Amino acid sequence: MKTSLKTEAKPFLKWAGGKGQLINQIKEFIPPEFVTPKKIDKYFEPFVGGGAVFFWLTREYQIKKAYLYDINPEIVSAYQTIRDRLRKLVFELQGLEDEYLSSSKTEREKFFYAKRVEYNDYISEKRTNHVVRRTALMIFLNKTCFNGLFRVNSQGLFNVPFGRYENPTICDEKNLQAVSFVLQNAEIECVDFAHCLKKADKSSLVYFDPPYRPISKTASFTGYIKNGFNDEDQKRLKKVCDQLSKIGSKVILSNSDPKNVDPKDNFFEDLYHKYYKKSLHATRMINCNAERRGMIKEILVMNYESPRRGLA
Ligand SMILES: C[S@@+](CC[C@H](N)C(=O)[O-])C[C@H]1O[C@@H](n2cnc3c(N)ncnc32)[C@H](O)[C@@H]1O
Repeated sequence: MKTSLKTEAKPFLKWAGGKGQLINQIKEFIPPEFVTPKKIDKYFEPFVGGGAVFFWLTREYQIKKAYLYDINPEIVSAYQTIRDRLRKLVFELQGLEDEYLSSSKTEREKFFYAKRVEYNDYISEKRTNHVVRRTALMIFLNKTCFNGLFRVNSQGLFNVPFGRYENPTICDEKNLQAVSFVLQNAEIECVDFAHCLKKADKSSLVYFDPPYRPISKTASFTGYIKNGFNDEDQKRLKKVCDQLSKIGSKVILSNSDPKNVDPKDNFFEDLYHKYYKKSLHATRMINCNAERRGMIKEILVMNYESPRRGLA
């Protein structure tokens, strides 16, 4: 029973910047000492978001202890709620699903926007109570919104419009149980990524997936940076990687390659010049224009020589 729960856990939210599509490439670069015998003593994911890589690892590896961090209090609270208050959450989410699915199409749209207002009221009032209700609303909105993507604006408010799915699974109880199961040995905190330095050691694998460096030139030029993660933060992150390297932790970091926009932009090559680097390929929207989906490059940075050196 426990083993099957463990093998099934998948992300419970679709999150902006999710790494689902890159896992098949990233997995080739896991340090060999963890691959045999598929065991990680301490796994850190300090920008966890939807946790695509973490959940994949829980299906393939035995993780003794996971440390999952994010600066977004809502996502952190959702993980904690699933870990600690699963029964109440399923009850609440099932209620939302029943009401939604038994409504007509017009009523569904009204219901969606009413729940979006309720959710955003919690956020704008900076309320930290009602965690079960907030998590249920977050999952409900994610499953019923346009493109099924959880995205917030600069004030942290959920602003995605209604999506017209015929029969969405809103309360995936089986997956929530599996997620709750794999989170039982996880420390989940709303902290800055540098917090990992307090706990990491030489038995640790740390995977960093920070917010992207702005992909459009105008965005970086005007200083508008989503999530407030700017080049100074990228440099601060590099220093954390240096410190982790001294401790003996293994570090993997992914980011979009700025060369997608400016072939002369050597930001990451310069910053991580002493590290091992690989090029990965992803499909992503460029310049917020849904028509301009294309293959773009992502970079993978490691503080150890990759086992698949010749591939990139
Ligand atoms: C690219 S997303 C991670 C996506 C994730 N890998 C996935 O598969 O869904 C980056 C995350 O970093 C978080 N973040 C931004 N600044 C942070 C900071 N200083 N410390 C920790 N987390 C931060 C954001 O809230 C966001 O969830």
